[in-house]
Amino acid sequence: ALIYFITPTYPRREQIAELTRLGQTLMHVPRLHWIVADDRPDCSPQIMNLLPDFSIPYTYIASPMPTIYRRDPNAMPRGVSNRRAALNWIRLNHDVNDSDAVIYFGDDDNTFHLDLFKEIRSTKKISMFPVGLIGEYGVSSPIINNGKVIGFFDSWPAKRKFPVDMAGFAINVQLLFKYPYATMPYKVGFEEDRFLSALAIQLDEIEPKAENCTRILVWHTQTVKKPKPVVMIKSKTTLPGSLATLLN
Ligand code: UGA
Ligand code: MN
Repeated sequence: ALIYFITPTYPRREQIAELTRLGQTLMHVPRLHWIVADDRPDCSPQIMNLLPDFSIPYTYIASPMPTIYRRDPNAMPRGVSNRRAALNWIRLNHDVNDSDAVIYFGDDDNTFHLDLFKEIRSTKKISMFPVGLIGEYGVSSPIINNGKVIGFFDSWPAKRKFPVDMAGFAINVQLLFKYPYATMPYKVGFEEDRFLSALAIQLDEIEPKAENCTRILVWHTQTVKKPKPVVMIKSKTTLPGSLATLLN
């Protein structure tokens, strides 16, 4: 099956570095279509320039978070507008009759073992697996007994039916067509749960991956943000040689 790898991303100083690292992981994965969904009003020329470097099929979409959700910086539904745009792109461009494709949400700062792609590729409906370096417990995972999901281990259950991380599941593309109005809500903390509920997922349908959820193949790594350096330059046009380009 083809893998649609949806990456929400947003403008900040680390963006190009994150996408370079991720792109160079995805280079090792066959039959993958990378959907880079950027939280900004227009596509970035630098990213348009970068994406062909990885020699993989990709689509670059700009879809900014609506401004009403930006009011509280501590409670923003991060990556929702852009993930929704990517899902809509798939609905518009994927052949309805072709069930041979799988969708996965891969944030731009996470770390992916190449075995993850081998695991999710066979997703018939919905598959789940552990995510490392997340929350207080350090791991979020379905709990498996006799090959079936019997519950979830997650630092923030919050009465969710599916207390899982965005990186902890993959779905077959067919679900998007079966539930054409299902989407991700602008509701902080409940994006995964409401999305999976909108797809009418039942507990006994979940396909455990990564050796019955005993291996960690994806990590919720985060890049430390350094404050913007204060460059003591009066006029950038007076910089010598390559510096003029580099610092612009
Ligand atoms: C948090 C939660 O801890 C995860 O459980 C959840 O899966 C994740 O948000 C999410 O919503 O995807 P965290 O690492 O704190 O994870 O979030 P970020 O990495 O800052 O953002 C998540 C994704 O949204 C990233 O791919 C990021 O590039 C993107 N994003 C972030 C935007 O598109 N816009 C923003 O303003 C901020
Ligand atoms: Mn992150």
